[in-house]
Amino acid sequence: MEPIIFKDYYDNTVKLSFEDHPFSKDPKHVWVLCRFRGQWLLTEHPRRGIEFPGGKVEPGETADEAAVREVFEETGGHVSSLHYLGQYKVDGKGGLIIKNIYYATVDKILLKERYYETNGPVFFETIPETFDGSRKFSFMMKDQVLIQSLQHTKEKFL
Ligand code: GTP
Repeated sequence: MEPIIFKDYYDNTVKLSFEDHPFSKDPKHVWVLCRFRGQWLLTEHPRRGIEFPGGKVEPGETADEAAVREVFEETGGHVSSLHYLGQYKVDGKGGLIIKNIYYATVDKILLKERYYETNGPVFFETIPETFDGSRKFSFMMKDQVLIQSLQHTKEKFL
């Protein structure tokens, strides 16, 4: 299957694929679609707004490990199962970034005084079809990556 190509919210070109690590075996970024007790689990970033948790892979860490760590740091959620979904590549102003997309279930949430770089967990019964006009939501929630990833998650896991 050929990658899906489109523009993101900032007009950067994105290539998205649900094949097995098509762009890199060793990506440096991760993004995790999370569920907790029948709800979607997101986080609120103080500048970007509401988004699914994710971030950068640290030195000495695998992408899967980074996914589990980022979910905990940003939401307090303990990942009980982690599934690779796909990968995307953004050709942005800061250079090329490659992200693994995961679907994860969380079995418990630790409420913390402080969260790493976020304001903590946010829960949604359903994810709206479009966030285009809403400043409450992060730019990461405003392109085909979210729509396609949710579709794949629903087909495979829900
Ligand atoms: P920090 O280093 O964490 O402060 O953030 P950064 O924005 O400098 O770094 P990062 O490498 O995460 O992102 C660089 C640029 O790539 C961003 O400014 C975005 O334009 C783009 N980018 C990062 N993540 C995504 C994503 O998930 N989707 C899209 N469409 N673009 C992204």
